Amino acid sequence: MLEKVQKLKESFLSHLNQASSTAALDAIRIEFLGKKGEVSLLLNNLKSLPGDVRKEAGRIINDAKQYMEEQIRAKTAELSALEEKKKIDSAESYDESLPLPLSLGSYHPITLIQREVEEIFSSMGFIVEDYDEVVDDYHCFEALNIPKYHPARDMQDTYYLDNGQLLKTHTSAAQNYIMRKYGAPVRAIFPGRCFRNESPDACHENTFFQLEGIMIDRDISISNLIYFMKTMLSEVFRQDITVRLRPGFFPFVEPGFELDISCTICGGKGCPSCKNSGWLELCPCGMIHPNVLRFGGIDPEEYTGFAFGLGLTRLAMMKYGIKDIRILNSGNLKALSQFTDR
Ligand code: PHE
Repeated sequence: MLEKVQKLKESFLSHLNQASSTAALDAIRIEFLGKKGEVSLLLNNLKSLPGDVRKEAGRIINDAKQYMEEQIRAKTAELSALEEKKKIDSAESYDESLPLPLSLGSYHPITLIQREVEEIFSSMGFIVEDYDEVVDDYHCFEALNIPKYHPARDMQDTYYLDNGQLLKTHTSAAQNYIMRKYGAPVRAIFPGRCFRNESPDACHENTFFQLEGIMIDRDISISNLIYFMKTMLSEVFRQDITVRLRPGFFPFVEPGFELDISCTICGGKGCPSCKNSGWLELCPCGMIHPNVLRFGGIDPEEYTGFAFGLGLTRLAMMKYGIKDIRILNSGNLKALSQFTDR
């Protein structure tokens, strides 16, 4: 028996010495130490030996088994370290001193202008509010003094959901919500995405941005409206801006205006950008209609206020010289990533 075990050990060692991969070691382990391996065979044969020899033979076989297990373990550790080193050596190498491609993305021009206007109004005591894009008919129209079948609805056709809700056509849709939330006095601006049924061209889009503002308090007048508009626009364009008001009709303001600014390109002399008029139409506005205040739970005998609906998309186009509105929703990074550092 001793001899047999000795031979087995030798055969094992010669196999082991030839093994050059962990996979080969696995095969050796199965051959010698597996369930049907050489060692198991020897152990099975023990039964045929007489009792006194059997004990000794068992011990010898088990010692050999332990020895083989240890050898395999040691060699496995050695070979897997080698294999790992090989993998590392053959991996693609790189020079860590080279500069990284630092492409951090950029802000959309609408985001840039929105933040700028928000900052200006915040500094004048206005809070910045957010509102839904999917709204109901009451908030978008009824609460703004636009009853069903009123012709003013024609200009604001939009996308309707099966449940009767709609995509808001203007940021004015949040007026009622804000009046109800804060009561009077209140100063708030609320930027938002708006939707209308438009055929898109260089100046029209079905999806665009406005920034609405309301200021309600005792004795608010048109002078306050003009002051805030002028201050905000002078800051945005970083120059003194002249404004003028023309009458404009919106059912939720009385009186209502179109606010024009003197053309920033020609200084009011007249050029192609302002169609030679010297003026650019920028911001509809007016004194909030008493009915709208009442719908908002505010007593129009006690409080008055102004509202304006700044065309944020329009403003971004003017400030950054963007000639086609469709670029803004295009996702074209080449065009849209130019404005970050302004
Ligand atoms: N909501 C109006 C529009 O989109 C603009 C507006 C806002 C007019 C506030 C007056 C006051 O056409």
